[in-house]
Amino acid sequence: MKASVIRIANFNAAHRLFRSDWSDEKNRDVFGLCSNPNFHGHNYKLEVNVTGDIDPETGFVLDLKLLKEMIDDEVMEPFDHRNLNRDTEEFQRLNPTAENIAAVIWQKLRQRLDARYGLKIRLHETERNVVEFDGR
Ligand code: NI
Repeated sequence: MKASVIRIANFNAAHRLFRSDWSDEKNRDVFGLCSNPNFHGHNYKLEVNVTGDIDPETGFVLDLKLLKEMIDDEVMEPFDHRNLNRDTEEFQRLNPTAENIAAVIWQKLRQRLDARYGLKIRLHETERNVVEFDGR
């Protein structure tokens, strides 16, 4: 009997989307306001979806306290109130789009989570723009 548990976390972070090998004009054309050279922030909403069997002993798929700790260590501590381009290892060279942020978070949590669980990340960059990543 399988179920999915979802833990939600909110963090805010600054970023700039750009390629250093493109002109400012091309960066602006492709990335729009997100390419503002002086950075800007988003209030990200993260949904971490873990699927697995319901443990007959506890009735849990996963202890949500443990999931919260993983999210605190892997996402909140390194990303919350940071400039993603400047303050993080992961986005020194990788463009911090919502897609890439979701993929990085997935990889970090995947390493912490037992292989028997399924993992899917949903990241809301704005109220209208949402990305999903599940490792495929
Ligand atoms: Ni942006």
